This record gives sequence, structure tokens and C-alpha cells, in this order.
Amino acid sequence: MKITVKKGSLADVKTEAFILVFCEGEKTLSGPAADIDRKSGGLIADIIKSGGFEAKPSQVTMIYSRTLAAKRIALVGLGKKNELTPEKIRRAFAKVMQELRGSKVRKAAVSLDLSLLNVRKEKVVSAAVEGAVLGLYRYSPYKTVGREELQDVQEMTIVPGPKDYALVRDEVQKTKIIADAVCFARDLVSAPANEMTPSILAEQARVVAKRKNVSCRVLEKGQMKALGMNALLGVAAGSDQPPKLIVLEYTGGKKGEAPIALVGKGLTFDSGGISIKPAEKMDEMKTDMAGGAAVLAVIRAAADLKLPVHLVGLVPATENLSGGSALKPGDVLKSHSGRTIEVLNTDAEGRLILADALSYACRYKPSAIIDIATLTGACVVALGEEVAGMLGTDDRMKKALREAAGETGELIWELPLWDHYHELIKSDIADYKNSAGRLGGAITGAAFLSKFVGEYPWVHLDIAGPAWTTKDRGYIPKGASGIPVRLLMEFLQNRVQEKK
Ligand code: BES
Ligand code: MN
Ligand code: ZN
Repeated sequence: MKITVKKGSLADVKTEAFILVFCEGEKTLSGPAADIDRKSGGLIADIIKSGGFEAKPSQVTMIYSRTLAAKRIALVGLGKKNELTPEKIRRAFAKVMQELRGSKVRKAAVSLDLSLLNVRKEKVVSAAVEGAVLGLYRYSPYKTVGREELQDVQEMTIVPGPKDYALVRDEVQKTKIIADAVCFARDLVSAPANEMTPSILAEQARVVAKRKNVSCRVLEKGQMKALGMNALLGVAAGSDQPPKLIVLEYTGGKKGEAPIALVGKGLTFDSGGISIKPAEKMDEMKTDMAGGAAVLAVIRAAADLKLPVHLVGLVPATENLSGGSALKPGDVLKSHSGRTIEVLNTDAEGRLILADALSYACRYKPSAIIDIATLTGACVVALGEEVAGMLGTDDRMKKALREAAGETGELIWELPLWDHYHELIKSDIADYKNSAGRLGGAITGAAFLSKFVGEYPWVHLDIAGPAWTTKDRGYIPKGASGIPVRLLMEFLQNRVQEKK
């Protein structure tokens, strides 16, 4: 969808639908709403007076007019003014855009009078754009029947108040870059595993690297062998698809600046291997590269925004299958770090490939390491489907991530990583074992990862729950969520601000 920002008055925009935003309890119409009400012969005032539209959060009422330039007027509620949050704006815009799409509207225009609202001006704009773009997302490349029904809203015109034009234009441009990156991550995650192999994921990284200051290097099996990445190679051994270690670097920072390493789990399909998963919902394991997809998307957005940061994205990519050479429970692997791992459960494969990618990340002497992984079902049991688990060694970074998440509406919650958990992953015959059983599974998973990050400040985000949603949730339609791309972008932008 194209988003344009226009000067002038809403009623003059050539479009199919006017979107008007209201807070609960607004009795008198003002600004563009009053203008459009007058031109429609009082339709809006009528419907408000009759109680047909109360401006409850995400309430949308569609009215039709014969006298206006646009045939439809969509009234959108934001709830009580003093309870307004960006999240409510996102949800409301997702809802109204979905309804407009449902009634085959291709072009809509909205007046955003920012002074009317109780949230920081920039936030109103970004929340509206995020809600609209993310709420309209759908994954349809494989639908061939009824394609003509799949029409999208093609253009949204925003008409700001006269003083806010420049602010709105700039904010729209920034937000669009990030929202598009979220959709890019969603596309990668939604793709079926036969069309999203490690090789194809690496191709996608190369496309990202066409941007200025972005470079991509892909380590192949031979190089992994030479580097001693036997944990990653072990997982890949059960599959015919060659593994890839994707290294995507964005050098937007000062020369010589230590990078932030973003490490994303890139399991393009996780069958569990010999410790095979039950058939039910195994299809969802095509999403086991959601962490890797987020890393690609963040680098893409950072480059598009020309953020002054240095990022190294590392995505170990492989399938976890049970071919004749597959890992077996009890196998011992020597990882890239030199530490040995006893594989008690081949379904705990994420931490194996991350072990090698994390210790490889240390090469870059990063200022911070953040890994993002659909690591454990246990995290979903602990926190539910909508919340990511956060564990790590650096309190400042955890605080910054928590604050960023508060801004973007992504839910993260910290789990403890106390000393005694580290006892649980000691192996009888090797340094560590890759599974400590079900109890505290999200934590023992993180404890395992912590062995491979050296002394670098490190945070792990377990996104097994929120990476994929089984029901429509406003601006996160059913399917891939694109979490935590917005969160990481917010985190990076805040970090840039702090340094200034
Ligand atoms: N990819 C899964 C975790 C997962 C589960 C992601 C549900 C998304 C939804 C991971 O590789 C896995 O299988 N983890 C095991 C670890 C266990 C064997 C220690 C798990 O959580 O059961
Ligand atoms: Mn697994
Ligand atoms: Zn997995």
C-alpha cells in the first residue's frame, strides 16, 4: 500500500472513503469531521446523536453519502481520550483498513489532527501507519483460486493539520520502512519449508545486501568444517539440504565501532530429528526460522533508515530431519568454541546451531549480542502464546529492551538465569548436555546458550510463542507476526539517541 501525505482539507481529496477518528464522549464535531458532516447533510452528527457510534476502542461504523466526493465515511473509535495509547491507535487503524478492504475500497484518506490526541504527535502517526500496513498484511502467493477477490487497499492518503505536515511526512516515511520490514519477516516465516530452504534464506539475505553499506557472506559446509562448527553440522546431517551460516553486516556506524551482533535461529524446518515431534502441528515448524527472519528484516530496516549503527547479523540455517546420517540421542559433538556437547534430545537443535553461531559472533568483539530464537515450547507454557521470554547477562540491555517493547506493544517478560540452573545442563560425559528435560525448559535452554557468548553483554529472546499466532489479533493477522522486528528497531533507535 502506498501512503501519501497531502496538504489541504480532507473533504477535497479524491478518494473512495474518508476515515474520521474520534475519541469517546466527543459531543461537538470539529475540524475535518465538522466539514465533512456539513457536506454530507449532517449524517455524522445524526449517527452520533442516535448512539449508533460511540467511539469505543476499535469501533468502526461505515456510512454512505451521495453528496461527498467519496462515497463512504468510516468512523473509527479510539476510546476515552485520557486512556489513549499507541496500541489502541494501531488496533483501530488495523480494524478500519480491514473493513475497508472487505468492502472493496482501494483508496482511503484520513485526517490526522494530532493536537486532538493525547499521545506524542510522532507516535500517533507511526501507530496509525503501523496499524494500517500491518493489519492489511496477508500471505497469498499460493492462492490461485479466487485471486480476483484478493484486492488490496492500494493507497492511504493522510491529511495532517497545516502545522504538522513535515512531521507527518517524515514519520510516515520512517514507519513505512519498519512496517515493510516486518512484512518482509512475515513473508519469510510464512513461506512453506519446501520454498524456504537454508539456500533460499541465504538468497534472501543477499537481496537485503544490495543496499548501501550492507554486505553478505555465506559460510558453506566446507568452511563450517574447517571452523569446527560441528554442532551446526550435526543438526544439518539429517537433511539433504546444505546448511548455510549467513553473515549479514551493516556498517552504518563510525569507523571501527564495535558491532551489535544479532543472532537468529534459522531452522527452516524442525521435525525434531530422531527425537521426532508428534505429527499434530508439525507443519508449524516451518516457522522455526522466525529469529533468523527477524535478523534479516532488522538489517534491512536499519540500512533503509540509514541508522548510524554497526550490525552483524548471523543466521545459522539448516533443516532438522531424521535422514540416515542424522544425529542420534547420545551423540557427542565438539562445537566451534571447543566445548563438547552431549545431544540427549535431537529436538533441542536450536541451541546447537546457536552455540556455533554465538561463539562465531565473539570474533567480532561485539558491544552486545542479542539472539532471537523460537527456542523452547517450555517458554510458551510459561508465558503463553503472546509473550516472548527474555534472559541474559546484561541488566542495562534488558532494561532497554523492556522499554522498547513497552513502546512497540510487543510483550516480553524476563525469566531468571540464576546460578543453579547452570548445574542442570552439565553432562556426565561431555561439558554440557543439550537438554535438561521439561522443568524450567526455557531457562535451561538459555543457560546452555550462555556458555557460548564469552564475556560479551548478551540477551536472549525466546519467541517460540509470539512468532506465530493462531488467531487474528488486530494488526497481527493470524500467521507470522514479525515479532520482534519493531522492538529491535526501537531499541536500536533509542541506542543511537542515547549516544548523541
Ligand atoms: N523449535 C522448537 C521449539 C518450539 C516449540 C517453537 C513450539 C515454536 C513452537 C525447539 O527446537 C524444540 O523442539 N525445543 C524442545 C526442547 C526440548 C527437547 C529440550 C521443546 O521445547 O520441547
Ligand atoms: Mn526442536
Ligand atoms: Zn526448533
